[in-house]
Amino acid sequence: MTPAVQIRAARPTDADREAVARINAAVPREERHDIEPRSAGALRELDELLARRGHALCRHVAEVVATGEIVGYAHGFHVPWEHHPARFWCAARCAPGHRRRGIGARLFAAVERDLARLGARELRAMARETQPEMLALAARLGFQELFRSWDFELDLARPGAGRPGGRAAPGVAIAPLSEERARRPGWLAELHALYLAVNREVPLPNHLDPELPADAFAAYLERSPTSLPEACFVARDGDRYVGLCILHRSEDDPARLDHLFTGVAAASRGRGVARALKLATIDLARRRGYSRIATAVESNNPGMLALNEELGFVRRGGLVVFERRTSWNLAG
Ligand SMILES: CC(C)(COP(=O)(O)OP(=O)(O)OC[C@H]1O[C@@H](n2cnc3c(N)ncnc32)[C@H](O)[C@@H]1OP(=O)(O)O)[C@@H](O)C(=O)NCCC(=O)NCCS
Repeated sequence: MTPAVQIRAARPTDADREAVARINAAVPREERHDIEPRSAGALRELDELLARRGHALCRHVAEVVATGEIVGYAHGFHVPWEHHPARFWCAARCAPGHRRRGIGARLFAAVERDLARLGARELRAMARETQPEMLALAARLGFQELFRSWDFELDLARPGAGRPGGRAAPGVAIAPLSEERARRPGWLAELHALYLAVNREVPLPNHLDPELPADAFAAYLERSPTSLPEACFVARDGDRYVGLCILHRSEDDPARLDHLFTGVAAASRGRGVARALKLATIDLARRRGYSRIATAVESNNPGMLALNEELGFVRRGGLVVFERRTSWNLAG
């Protein structure tokens, strides 16, 4: 018999956060979404970041009445990296064994009521391309596709992997960040300025707001648990930085590097700088004995897609980002 389940507001306690994180941690890698903390600590960090910035968070959990076990959750919160008072990120998950019973819809309805009171006008959500039930649910709830973020992987053992099809920026010097920061005392301010300029041009609907300050950028490159400065490369034309790429070690696969960002100054594009940067990362990965490099590219970025394909990256799936623009009718 199906146990009775009640929906209640989540409490800011370790017990509730652990239950939510456990649901996320059980999601297989190929079904994971962005911003799904998989430990109570990481979830607390997200909650505290939102609180520090004065952002709203509403979270509800589904609890089995008889046992108190938490078997699903949904939440909505101000998008922390592109803050807008009426824009919210939404997510919902139910534990296996508790799906297709309307629990997700009840959870979402509870979150929706809170969001309406908070004045939400734009809801963002995400689903895997390979999850037809989630795509159907998003459509039923009135969400429309904004863009896709496709996952790619380069198998370094594959013959031809990393072989360039065109020229690689003659005259431009490529160096690992680990060398460059020792060579050039002013590296951080210059590289940070380049990063901000190119990051604004990644074809996404919105960009980091507020933008990443220099100290947070340095931490991202050098001090986060997965940072790997020797796998990040900068491109220098004479005395100017004209490109950079950022790679981290993978959180869950020691044989994989994660390529997180590539950017080239607008005036230096079309000369093979991005190709030269990517070739340097592939060479480093091979020398260090990694088996693969993973990356993600938005479906509306033809340049990056073409370059990855040229180098042998193979598409593995992707995420669909949805938006719902909404006005509420709370009557009743
Ligand atoms: C995408 C980007 C990094 C490309 O840098 P680049 O140095 O101009 O690229 P390259 O000159 O090395 O191009 C290599 C190949 O990529 C493809 N390519 C690059 N830009 C392209 C474009 N605008 N349209 C179509 N193909 C393109 C081509 O196949 C090109 O080979 P070819 O010139 O021999 O035809 C650059 O446009 C950029 O910084 N964009 C903004 C930031 C961004 O979107 N980054 C990716 C998200 S992480």
